[in-house]
Amino acid sequence: MHRCTENTFEPTFVWDPGSRVPPLGTCEAHFWLGPLDVPAPELPSWAELLPDGERDRAARFHFAVDQQRYIVSHAILRLILGAYLEQSPRLIRFSTNAFGKPFVEATTNGGQIEFSLSHSGDMAAIGIVRGHPVGVDVELVRNDVNIEELAPTIFAARELASFRTFEGEARGEAFFNGWTRKEAYIKARGEGLSYPLQEFNVSIDPSRTFQVADQNAQGATHTGWATRTTHRARVYPAAMIVLGEGMMVRYFGWRKPWIPADGTQQIGGS
Ligand SMILES: CC(C)(COP(=O)(O)OP(=O)(O)OC[C@H]1O[C@@H](n2cnc3c(N)ncnc32)[C@H](O)[C@@H]1OP(=O)(O)O)[C@@H](O)C(=O)NCCC(=O)NCCS
Repeated sequence: MHRCTENTFEPTFVWDPGSRVPPLGTCEAHFWLGPLDVPAPELPSWAELLPDGERDRAARFHFAVDQQRYIVSHAILRLILGAYLEQSPRLIRFSTNAFGKPFVEATTNGGQIEFSLSHSGDMAAIGIVRGHPVGVDVELVRNDVNIEELAPTIFAARELASFRTFEGEARGEAFFNGWTRKEAYIKARGEGLSYPLQEFNVSIDPSRTFQVADQNAQGATHTGWATRTTHRARVYPAAMIVLGEGMMVRYFGWRKPWIPADGTQQIGGS
């Protein structure tokens, strides 16, 4: 029987929104993970950090919980990017590639850094890197998902065989662990679900480092990391991958989302 190692998220830096962020070296990847739950009366203040287009998109969510997740994750992303780019969070402009992957526009100090955002349940993950594509994913381990039915539709043969060696609770965590690794990889590639999920293999075992074998990208280099965290007694595996080699990771987090007094103003960067 497998035992999932406790590769639990331990941030080396816990950020207070509005404060500076550590410098981002060219061979460094910053892997951010933190909670999104805020008291409902605070939501309008969070929404103020977003430009009109994002507020409109938030308003279109049917369920309040999805609206909150969208607003707070996008506001946190803007606060963090603002700190790296020395730019007012609300003024950062994004454009997207043909598959919807967002980039910071060069006109708002972009072009310097690449990022990836993911949110699930009450958690968000953000990857920040200089000059290399990055993909990040966090997933809430849920038991309302039929993992036996889904696994053969997303996992390649080798992944499926590995998944089936797990039993009981470990099987659920292995499934979502594999999911985050696959999702992070396709997000780094930026092609969304048009990228064939069953033509590449990731390591499914949570105790193993995050590696990818992709028959369509032989010779390409990448560096991946996986971790897990718990929040309100729920388990969240998370993974990040950079399409580049020799990268070092630094784990960062925020304990509780809060808006700095000068959240909409320029805030200090690295
Ligand atoms: C959009 C997608 C890239 C990720 O979606 P997701 O896992 O539901 O959501 P996440 O929170 O992890 O990521 C969403 C963020 O990824 C970014 N994103 C959107 N399109 C992207 C793309 N083509 N490449 C990389 N990032 C993308 C956006 O920042 C988006 O945030 P937003 O929706 O709040 O604006 C896409 O892969 C998808 O629809 N996945 C569905 C999930 C699935 O079936 N996965 C199979 C298991 S591997």
